[in-house]
Amino acid sequence: MSNPVRLGFTGLGSRGGSLLESCLSMSDVEIAAICNRSDERREQILARVADAGRPSPSTFTDHGTMLSAANLDGVVISTPWTDHVPMAIEALEAGVYVGLEVGAASSVEECWELVHTAERTGTHCMFLENTCYFRDCLAIRNMIRAGLFGELVHCRCGYGHDLRSSLHRTDASGESLAWRGRQNRHRNADLYPTHGVGPMAKVLDVNRGNRFVSLTATATKSAGLAAYAEENLDPDHPAAGIDWAIGDVITTVLRCANGETLTVTHDVSLPRPYSNMFHVQGTGGIWKRTFESLSGGEVKTESAIYLEEESPGHEWEDFAPYQTGHEHSVWEAYLEAGVKNGHGGIDYLTLRDYVRHVKRDARPPIDVYDAAAWMAVTPLTEDSIALGGEPVSVPDFTNGAWMTTEPPVGEPAHEMTADLDL
Ligand SMILES: NC(=O)c1ccc[n+]([C@@H]2O[C@H](COP(=O)([O-])OP(=O)(O)OC[C@H]3O[C@@H](n4cnc5c(N)ncnc54)[C@H](O)[C@@H]3O)[C@@H](O)[C@H]2O)c1
Repeated sequence: MSNPVRLGFTGLGSRGGSLLESCLSMSDVEIAAICNRSDERREQILARVADAGRPSPSTFTDHGTMLSAANLDGVVISTPWTDHVPMAIEALEAGVYVGLEVGAASSVEECWELVHTAERTGTHCMFLENTCYFRDCLAIRNMIRAGLFGELVHCRCGYGHDLRSSLHRTDASGESLAWRGRQNRHRNADLYPTHGVGPMAKVLDVNRGNRFVSLTATATKSAGLAAYAEENLDPDHPAAGIDWAIGDVITTVLRCANGETLTVTHDVSLPRPYSNMFHVQGTGGIWKRTFESLSGGEVKTESAIYLEEESPGHEWEDFAPYQTGHEHSVWEAYLEAGVKNGHGGIDYLTLRDYVRHVKRDARPPIDVYDAAAWMAVTPLTEDSIALGGEPVSVPDFTNGAWMTTEPPVGEPAHEMTADLDL
């Protein structure tokens, strides 16, 4: 496709705005349409697009209307979670390639509906899980493919992020909790599994020779959010005195068809620094993130490794030399050209991979089956917790195709370097 890719953006809050900002620097992308409920926000975005010297996009307040009127190649959806799947389905029905922001599914049924709609329409949906593009996670995938970890046995991951202040925010009325707080008020589940599960599912070849079979989930009591409100909110604040459903720390163990386990932790209601808690372990050695810092658009990480064949004694080694020794070619090119802002550069890489696949109308590296299997962790943990930690089955959203799909589908391809538009 020689013409620019015509993208629409639905949901232009903090995330949608920053994704659109990343696209403004891409010469092969036209910001063709924007859709947001707030007049003020649409005006802000139009001003930003004009400042960047780009043509003014059409504006909409309704996603469906935008899909039928704007002649889009792709649409990036960054709305609150309950709208994600219904909006993605509307776009698939309209033949528009979906870029879907991450979030919790409302039910397993809606995950099936997403998969069935993509299959019936033949339209693609890429799940924009930016953490899959972390520099260290891609190097680890290279090392696993090279056999350095032997046979994989166990992985760990999570979402540790102090959200106490943002979960107490109110909506535009000022009288009720905003959408994310509402989810935490009413659901006891791992509400944000995919930042951790995504990269580890890639490591474990989930949906490509492996799959999640079942999970158990256990929640602690809920104490952190109430303690925060007591300390920080006026007693007449709409979010004061809430009886929160969400447990402070939710621990899930996913079991894979090939016998590995993946432990996932959801931890957003207690004071703590940010962490994705990555850990990969096999018969040949072990890797884990030891330090993570997320501030503004910057991400800093350190990690440690022990490989039986290479590391001295039984001592952890700094991962840095292994990182450079096993760098993914996309990151080699990216580092040379200059890494762009947005979660340490991963936001831009994710969007570039999306645009690259929209241009070719090709199956994306993080596809509708990944989206379904990873997002379904939320309602499945909700069920398991409600059953006192009983195991629940994870559906095979691929309907058996995981047994014959080769692992390389799902890798950010090395040809992507030519397409980075740096
Ligand atoms: N991948 C990441 O690193 C990352 C980071 C932050 C947020 N997110 C995800 O991005 C999504 C949005 O998060 P956010 O923090 O920007 O939320 P937000 O509340 O700041 O923004 C949501 C926007 O959607 C608009 N909106 C709501 N309903 C709409 C509708 N029916 N039609 C059109 N617009 C509508 C709202 O007006 C608002 O501007 C969430 O799914 C979140 O999980 C991902």
